[in-house]
Amino acid sequence: MRNRMIAGNWKMNKTYVEGVELAQGLADQLADGTGDVDVVVCPPTVDLKGVSEVIEQSEAPFALGAQNVYFEESGAFTGETAPNMLEAVGATYCIIGHSERRGYFGETDEDINKKAKVLMAHGIVPISCCGEPLEVREAGTHVDFVVNQIKADTEGLEISDPSKYVVAYEPIWAIGTGKTATADDAQEVCGAIRKTLSEVFGQQTADGIRVLYGGSAKPENVAGFLEKEDVDGALVGGASLKADSFSAMVKAAM
Ligand code: G3H
Repeated sequence: MRNRMIAGNWKMNKTYVEGVELAQGLADQLADGTGDVDVVVCPPTVDLKGVSEVIEQSEAPFALGAQNVYFEESGAFTGETAPNMLEAVGATYCIIGHSERRGYFGETDEDINKKAKVLMAHGIVPISCCGEPLEVREAGTHVDFVVNQIKADTEGLEISDPSKYVVAYEPIWAIGTGKTATADDAQEVCGAIRKTLSEVFGQQTADGIRVLYGGSAKPENVAGFLEKEDVDGALVGGASLKADSFSAMVKAAM
């Protein structure tokens, strides 16, 4: 049995004050609880502490996630954030391998694998992203492409509690474009991801890992994705930037 998850990736949006306001708005809208749905918000790094305080003070039923981490524990890595720094501000999740990090900042599957390991060693749940670019989708090799990413990203990981590792399938051509994959497109790849996870970790573990869909997910379409057997939630970009739309997605998942 997998709890559904709705995770918001604010990307490079919201100053500290705006982020605290958004978190407070969410806390108000979700004050009656979120049932069995796990809700995560991932603000920019400088907003983490402020959002963490909102979560603490309001006992809001959502968790805090970061958008990135470095895989070393400390040292001369200017501009990076260590896992214990995320831990110290109350982050319990962290997105890794987002296609924007892979595309603009040259992150490789090897980096992503190292990040997953270091996060798990600190008790932080990775939300590990994968997904194909348009040309791969058009060539019809998207399933193989994503399966290879999953194999590389999970190499050598030890997962004792499957609720502590999350995968997000985000076809790059659907991110921020308004061009959504169909629910069947999402199921095809999310099903292949779970099959690959079962080959790597065994069926029982694979059955407990949440696989999210991301890419122009919004209140109007999220229910269609969630009906699919292997889609356990959504990683939401644009629609997570307003308390109304994000909380509507959480409610649609309940
Ligand atoms: O991490 C979130 C995804 O990149 C999706 O972004 O909902 O704005 O398309 P989007």
